[in-house]
Formats: sequence, structure tokens, C-alpha cells
Amino acid sequence: MQFPIIAPSVLSADFSALGLAVNNIDKSGAEWIHLDIMDGVFVPNLSFGPKTVADLRSHSQSIFDVHLMTEHPEQLVAQFADAGADYITFHVEACVHAHRVIQSIKTLGKKAGISLVPSTPLNLVEELLPLVDLILIMTVNPGFGGQALLPECLAKAGRLVRLREELGLKFLVSVDGGINTATVALVRKEHPDVLVTGSAFFAAKDSQLFIREMKGLS
Ligand code: DX5
Ligand code: ZN
Repeated sequence: MQFPIIAPSVLSADFSALGLAVNNIDKSGAEWIHLDIMDGVFVPNLSFGPKTVADLRSHSQSIFDVHLMTEHPEQLVAQFADAGADYITFHVEACVHAHRVIQSIKTLGKKAGISLVPSTPLNLVEELLPLVDLILIMTVNPGFGGQALLPECLAKAGRLVRLREELGLKFLVSVDGGINTATVALVRKEHPDVLVTGSAFFAAKDSQLFIREMKGLS
């Protein structure tokens, strides 16, 4: 696998043709598909639920990277595990018992991720670092695709990459929001493992070239 892994988000796809959208992601050379779940409470927008994820599962070979932007993630993890998620990431701001939610995700046989909005400091997840498979650093305030990257959030990803080395841990560092051909060089300087990209992927004329550009290969 050529790092960084690219995870196009279907949030910016035409929802009347989501099956085609995931086929196009598979053909583009991206390794993952990012599935943004919004509940209208944790974030001011609604997207889709576990049935959509389950229906898409048979259309794609890619890793399904589910990003729960919801209150009460503990009530949803089993449904998304059944739907075919590979990674289930939830927000540390959305629940008190994050430790328990991570345990539930792992008991379901899935990879567990924790996400931080721009205003949340890294030290809030310090105790969870040895437990998680992925940490998702938001580089926009979550809720919508197509927002501008907040460059001040990038240093947090870089600090996390260095902290992981110091602690000898193995979780993946993912970044999400406002990543496109104009901003990706700045993002890659922090050496994240996974780049989520939504609106830019679906706006690209040549998706294979776009993925190569995201990886710094073209
Ligand atoms: C934002 C979502 C992102 C979003 C990324 O709330 O979590 O995954 O879809 O979209 P772009 O790349 O357009 O910022
Ligand atoms: Zn996301």
C-alpha cells in the first residue's frame, strides 16, 4: 500500500447514484471509502444511515471507513458493524464513555477510531491512544463537505504523528476536511497516514490522476 491512503467521502456524490459513486472510487486507485454519518444534532446536517452503508457494501471492495458525527455513538456501532464497516470512528466530544465505545467496536470485530473537532485538544484523547486503531483529526468544523481547510488544525496531526513514534504505538492518523489539490502539499507535510477528500474527488475530471496527485505521485 502506497501511503498516504486516500479515503474519498461519498458525502459529495450524487446520492441518486451512490452505487456508481463507490464503483468510481474503487476504480480511481483510492484504497478506502469514507462514509460520513450525520444526525442533525451533533452536527447541523443529515446524511444517511446503516441501510445505505449495507446496500453499498456489495458494490465495493474498498475498506469502509465510517465516520459517526452523531450523539450517542454507543447506540449505533452495532448497526454499522453489521452494515459492513471496517473502521468505525466516533467523536470524543459526543460521549463520556469513549473507552467503553472503543471496547464495543473491538468486540464487534471492527477497527476503532476516535475523532477530534478543531477546538478539541489532543490531550483529551491521551488515555485512549493505546486502545485505538485510528485518530481522525478534523481540519474543518464537521457538518458539511466543501468547506475551506483550517490550516491551524494541521499542527495537531503532526504532533500526533510524533507522539505515536515516542510512545511506540501503531494507530493511523487521518485528516478530514478541505483537502484538495491546492491544500494537499501542506497537509502531507505533517505526514498523516490517511487523507479524506470529498468535494475535490467528485469535482475532479480524472479521478485516477486526482488520487495520484493526493499521494504526491503526479
Ligand atoms: C465533514 C466530513 C468530511 C467531508 C469532507 O463534516 O466529515 O468527511 O465530507 O469533504 P471535503 O473534502 O469537501 O471537505
Ligand atoms: Zn468525515
